[in-house]
Amino acid sequence: MNIDAIMRLSPVIPVLVIDEDGPDPVELAETLVANGLRVIEVTLRTPGALAAMTAMAGVSGAVVGAGTILDPDQLLRAIDAGAKFIVSPGLTERIGRAAIDSGVAYLPGVANSGDIMRGMEMGLDRFKFFPAMASGGLPALKALCGPFYDARFCPTGGITRGTAPEWLADPAVLCVGGSWVVPKGEWSMAKIGVLAKTAAQLR
Ligand code: 3PG
Repeated sequence: MNIDAIMRLSPVIPVLVIDEDGPDPVELAETLVANGLRVIEVTLRTPGALAAMTAMAGVSGAVVGAGTILDPDQLLRAIDAGAKFIVSPGLTERIGRAAIDSGVAYLPGVANSGDIMRGMEMGLDRFKFFPAMASGGLPALKALCGPFYDARFCPTGGITRGTAPEWLADPAVLCVGGSWVVPKGEWSMAKIGVLAKTAAQLR
């Protein structure tokens, strides 16, 4: 599946930070998928993240990717571990080239015109707008979409259940990312299930 198809699978991509003392990753993925969120980003910010991502990738219906990928080595390790897509907070020439050469579905972070132009020079036109709120929010994205009318985005960073609908109403926004679906410290699958179901119904 290419990145455009993945972005269109569900309106919200839960951005997960897997803590050792957090919920069981497989149970978590099953809960998200069962409630309509098939696309899951596991950030490589904690020691067990890669193993958790591999385990979650085995859940039927789940499309599990790796986030917080900062260099080509990490990118290749995540692909080896079963990542179906790769998210990086920004875009460098090296990581962009490595992603393209690997053929993986790739969602690089952009925050301004220069970032988007660098991506377009590499043939990329699907981006994570990050950090979405701190970079000017929806007015900034709308302004960027003037010149970059073909680009499509997954805004992430500071988006909430309350603000997601206005982002999703913008035609350039294919989905949004956020950590609110699985709040830090939340262990209850029942509660996560409700948050996921609400998120899945946002569009
Ligand atoms: C990310 O890692 O992509 C963001 O930190 C998620 O942003 P949020 O925690 O504001 O949803």
